[in-house]
Amino acid sequence: MATPPRQVLQYSVKLLFLSEEQLREGLHLSHPNQKALRLDVHAREEGAEMAVTDVDGVCVFKCLVNKDTEYCRVGKESILITLGYNNALLQFTSHSEYNMFSNALNSCRNINKEHSVFSQRTEDSSAAQYFQFYGCLSQQQNMMQDFVRTATYHRAILQNHTDFKDKVVLDVGCGSGILSFFAVQAGARKVYAVEASSVAKYAKILVQSNNLADKISVLSGKIEEIALPESVDVIVSEPMGYMLFNERMLESYLHSKKWLKSNGMMFPTFSDIHLAPFSDEQLYMEHYSRANFWYQQCFYGVNLSSLRNAAVDEYFRQPIVDTFDIRILMARTVKYTVSFIEAEEEDLHRVEIPFVFQMMQSGLIHGLAFWFDVAFVGSLVTVWLSTAPTEPLTHWYQVRCLFQTPLFAKEGETLSGEVLFVANKRQSYDIQIVAIVDETGFKSGNVLDLKNPFFRKYGRNITC
Ligand SMILES: C[S@@+](CC[C@H](N)C(=O)[O-])C[C@H]1O[C@@H](n2cnc3c(N)ncnc32)[C@H](O)[C@@H]1O
Repeated sequence: MATPPRQVLQYSVKLLFLSEEQLREGLHLSHPNQKALRLDVHAREEGAEMAVTDVDGVCVFKCLVNKDTEYCRVGKESILITLGYNNALLQFTSHSEYNMFSNALNSCRNINKEHSVFSQRTEDSSAAQYFQFYGCLSQQQNMMQDFVRTATYHRAILQNHTDFKDKVVLDVGCGSGILSFFAVQAGARKVYAVEASSVAKYAKILVQSNNLADKISVLSGKIEEIALPESVDVIVSEPMGYMLFNERMLESYLHSKKWLKSNGMMFPTFSDIHLAPFSDEQLYMEHYSRANFWYQQCFYGVNLSSLRNAAVDEYFRQPIVDTFDIRILMARTVKYTVSFIEAEEEDLHRVEIPFVFQMMQSGLIHGLAFWFDVAFVGSLVTVWLSTAPTEPLTHWYQVRCLFQTPLFAKEGETLSGEVLFVANKRQSYDIQIVAIVDETGFKSGNVLDLKNPFFRKYGRNITC
């Protein structure tokens, strides 16, 4: 039995029926005299029900496209559907119309859910835990209460109101929907607010109770798996995790560009990740002391010391989330930029950041410190959200990665090497750092697990 449609999408198309013979002879696609027909796509549990009607409302073609249906793209804006001995060619008005239809079709056919980019790159257990976390109002509240974060987004959107006025906006991972509300305040005509966790139901309540149901549509689901009825002018999102990359939500943000019109805007537009060598004897010793628990030879009569090295390795694999006095930094920072306009999802699967630091003071280098800024490049102003140690603290703090063995360097010497981020299926990254003092050849580094950071300062609640 056919289930009621979940969503109806409409397109303008031209339709051509082709025999096997015609296909063998080659396609002659132009059909100049045909008037545009209306294609309705009804999303049903069992697949996409497609119906083409003419100007008088008469249905001229109908079929159900599911997992078993054979079809292929022809050129940039047509699709050929094979049904037994019949072939139907649907020609869309543009490539972007075709793309939208194709995304919607995949979504309806449930292909996206099973094979979506998100599900392929994420372990089920990680996704379940992740979206359960964001399903809590208390976690959304933590982010909303990060004043630097929320006020900067508000300013970036409202001060660039001309980029939002009468525009169609996509909010990727809308959470409570707060950025969607900002977009409407800036004059957006329509906002599609996409949220994968159960907090979507609360966002819907907020939209209703703020009388904005005509402007904001909350769509439950992952951005990689949902279909939008139209392409958008602006995408807004807050996809940054610790050290920028944690959570791998930046990839979802980049994925969402499939719904962006050409020359559409991304808020934020790009991000700079900064790194610098630091000296912090106390932090280093603290880490060792924690591991030294396992050095005990008579813990209730048990010798634990055979596990001491494993404990040291485990502790040093943890990036440390906290803040620090900038006087511990030993060189000017190196910057690595990710442009959300230019970058593709795959670019974030492996991120290599080479560095050469000119040491500004002599001493022991205990590791590298990291933070990031994001920029909202609007038509009126560029607004920066910074998580630098020189700026007011945010819930992202800063992150430090220790070397297992500190390196001695003198003022004027150079420390060079590379930080390599390799994405994993736990929505995070394995980090490899190699560093060498060029003048002496002293070398150190570390391998760290960004999924398992050590929260050293609990000034306030930590979210992502
Ligand atoms: C950092 S929070 C930001 C929430 C809200 N935009 C704000 O600024 O307060 C990220 C949100 O994106 C959602 N999210 C993460 N990945 C997603 C995806 N692939 N599709 C849809 N939502 C996603 C999370 O569930 C979470 O609610």
